[in-house]
Parts: sequence; structure tokens; C-alpha cells
Amino acid sequence: MRAMKVCGDEVGDLTEAFNQMLTQIQSQDSALQTAQHELQEQVIALQREIGERKRAEAAQARLTAILEATPDIVMSANPNGIPFYLNRAGHEILGVGQDRDISGMKTLYLHPEWAREIFAKGRLPEAIRHGSWAGETTILARNGKEIHVSQVLIAHKSPEGKVEYFSTVLRDMTEYREAEEALRLSQQKLLETSRLAGMAEVATGVLHNVGNVLNSVNVSAGLVVERLRRSKAPKLAKAAALLTAHNGDLGQYLTNDVNGQKLPGYLANLGEFFIVENAELLNEVDQLSRNIEHIKEVVAMQQSYAKVSGVFENLQAHRLVEDAIAMNIGAFERHGVEVERQFSAVPAIRVDRHKVLQILINLIRNAKYALDDVERMDKKIVISISAPNERYIQIVVSDNGIGISPENLTRIFAHGFTTREGGHGFGLHSGAIAARSMGGAITVASAGIGEGATFTLELPIASTASVT
Ligand SMILES: Nc1ncnc2c1ncn2[C@@H]1O[C@H](COP(=O)(O)OP(=O)(O)OP(=O)(O)O)[C@@H](O)[C@H]1O
Ligand SMILES: [Mg+2]
Repeated sequence: MRAMKVCGDEVGDLTEAFNQMLTQIQSQDSALQTAQHELQEQVIALQREIGERKRAEAAQARLTAILEATPDIVMSANPNGIPFYLNRAGHEILGVGQDRDISGMKTLYLHPEWAREIFAKGRLPEAIRHGSWAGETTILARNGKEIHVSQVLIAHKSPEGKVEYFSTVLRDMTEYREAEEALRLSQQKLLETSRLAGMAEVATGVLHNVGNVLNSVNVSAGLVVERLRRSKAPKLAKAAALLTAHNGDLGQYLTNDVNGQKLPGYLANLGEFFIVENAELLNEVDQLSRNIEHIKEVVAMQQSYAKVSGVFENLQAHRLVEDAIAMNIGAFERHGVEVERQFSAVPAIRVDRHKVLQILINLIRNAKYALDDVERMDKKIVISISAPNERYIQIVVSDNGIGISPENLTRIFAHGFTTREGGHGFGLHSGAIAARSMGGAITVASAGIGEGATFTLELPIASTASVT
């Protein structure tokens, strides 16, 4: 806007002055507007700054809340080691009242005397050099108690590399250490227990297997004693005495005397009897010594339980089965149990003789026990040998005894599972382990209670045919 100067008189001057004033006002107005604009921008910048500061404060409050809540000691100190921040846990663990001024403390004195030099000459310079140090150390807690801590020490530096302050986080490791110690102790105890358990297992194994065999040793020994008691040896002595008595007229006595005439025939009979008796006794003594040999081996094998003890040999399955039957024969006779053999010709197997015997004796004895409790006249154990393929043979022991309930079928191999008074529940468990150690297996089948049971032992066929 501008006034028009129409003449050069006073009015004209006035108009001029007015216009000048107007120009001034207009330029001031624009300056004012610029100033206002700048002001507005400053206000916005201020508002932004306030917002940022608030956010920063909130973030700091959050951080402080975390530092205050952590069970670790958190501390900051100036380069001279005078702390200016100590969190709540720090106050508590170090026994410094929450409202106590901490600027009188010195971080070095957090450590017991013996650890101060290590800290001052080792860890601190390292933190300064590398920016931080982490490791384990000891501090003096409330009442001078030394506690083991893990520590992180940070040297905060200016852009020029000058340390501005230190901060540290200390974690009490006492509980951790105690837990570690408890774990170590319990591991040691576990080891000891399993060692003892192992020994118990060895003892049970010896008792079980030796017990099984001792039974037949007793029977054999009883038989030998009985035979000797009934022996006709005294009669031989009597005949000898008769001959001696007729020493002078022996020919006369043998031909004319009624008794003398019978003597040669009697002696011949006696001789035959002695031959048979001798063979039977020999057989029994042989069985006895094999049983004793087996007992010796069982004890030795069980003593070296942990080791893979066995000597592997190529053996005929039927020989092992016959041995196992022989070791139980007395029991079958006593309990009226018939044993039926169904042996097919099979290749030699590669096994540890005593392990197989141990397994078979237990299977056969279990079958016999299963027959003890049934009221039937035709108590029978069938033992078959066959080779279903070229890799292994099967020895099947089945009985028509009490049978096994479906829920027990899987449990009978567990260590300690027994339904038998006086049983250990060891036989099948150790048998299954022994079978596995030879590359074989034991399986069971039963149609249920009262239906008998069938155990199948699979053993690997020897790769070469030679038999020991
Ligand atoms: N032929 C079977 N018929 C029925 N049950 C059987 C037969 N064989 C085994 N069992 C069951 O399996 C259980 C475990 O047998 P295992 O041979 O492991 O131990 P055990 O004979 O009881 O005792 P031991 O340790 O003296 O041998 C037996 O108690 C029995 O319940
Ligand atoms: Mg048994």
C-alpha cells in the first residue's frame, strides 16, 4: 500500500513521510514475521528435545530399575576408585546401609587383602588396556565374610582414550559353587552306589548260577554215596575170605563143596555187577566234576563281570543242551517231569560255553518251577534245536506249566522281577544280557495263565565249521 503524492506542498511532504513510515513498518513487519517463524521453529525443536529427554529419562529409569532389581552387585566408580553408584544388591551383600554415602568407600577395599594386589596390578590394568576384564575373584561381603564372585570390570573411556569411569558387575557364586559341590558329591555317591550295585549283581549272579548247579552237585553226590552204600564190595571180601579159608584144598572145595561149586559163577556175576556199577559211578563222578568245573567258571566269570569275559568256541548246541538237562535231571525225576528232545542237525555255534549253560540252566529250571504249581499228570518240557536260517540257531524250551500273563511278558526280563518264593529275578535278566553279548537273543511267548510258556534262545552260527 502507498499514498499518491499529488503536489509538492506540505501535503505532498506529509504524503512522502507517510510513505517512508509505511516502508519502515512494512520492513519491520517482515522482520517480525521472520522472527516469529524462527521462534516457532525453536519451540518445535525444544519440544522435540524435551520429548527426547523424557524418553532418555524413561530409558534410564528402566535401566536403573533393572540394575536395582538384579541380584548381582553393580557398581560405578571414578578413575580413582571412589564409587558413585552402587545398586541395591550391592548395598545388601556388602552390608552398606541403603542411605549411606558411598563416596567414602574405595573399590580396592572390596577385595580381601590377599587379593588386592592381584586386582590392582593385574585385572585393573588389563581392563584399562582392553576395555574390560572378566573372571573370578573374591570379595569381602557383610561382616568380613569372603565370598567367591564372578566379575566383569569395564573401563569407560573418552574418545581420546582417557578412562572416565569404571563400572563392574559382581555375581555371588556361592550357591553355584555349593550346587556344583553337591552335584560332584552326588555323582561320587552314584558312582559308589553303582559300584556296590555292581558288586551286589556279581554276588547275586554267583549265588543264582552256583545255586542252580549246586543243586545237581548235591543230587550227583547223593547218588554216588547211595551206590557206594549199596556196593557189593563186602560180598567180594566175603568170597575172598572163603577162598582163603580153603587155601589148602581149593580144588576139592570148588569141585565137591555145594557152596564152593557156586563160587565161580557168583564171582563172575559179581564181576559183571562191578563193571556196570563202575561205569555208572564213573558217569556220575564225571557229571559231578563237570558241574564243579561249571561252578568254578561261573564264579570266575561273575568275578570278572564287567569284562567281556568269555572265551568263544565253536560248539555243538545239542552238547550244551544235554549238559544243561543233565544238571537238572534229579529235579525232573523228583517232580515227575518228562523231558522231550526234538533236536535237528544244526551247524556249530560260536559262543561262550558257560554263558550258554547259564542261560539254558535257568530256562530249564524256570520251566520246572512253572510245572511245580500245576495239577497235571503230563508235566512236560520240550527242548528243540533248529536252524531257521544260516545266521543263527534256535534252542526252544517250552513247558505246559503255569504260563505267563500278558502284562508280565515284558516285565520278566527286568532285573529283580520274580513271582517265585526264593527267586531273585536275576536269571532272565542276566540271561538276556549274556545272550546279547554273544550276538544272540532270548524271546518269550505264552498264551496266558495256565497255557504254558515258550522261551527261544537264538545263538549265532559259527562262520567256520571247526568244532572244539
Ligand atoms: N517257564 C516259565 N513259566 C512261567 N513263568 C516264568 C517262566 N520262566 C520265567 N517265568 C517268570 O519270570 C520270572 C523271572 O524269571 P527269572 O529266571 O529271571 O527269575 P527267577 O527264576 O524268579 O529267579 P532266579 O533269579 O533265581 O532265576 C519268574 O519269577 C516267573 O514269574
Ligand atoms: Mg530263574
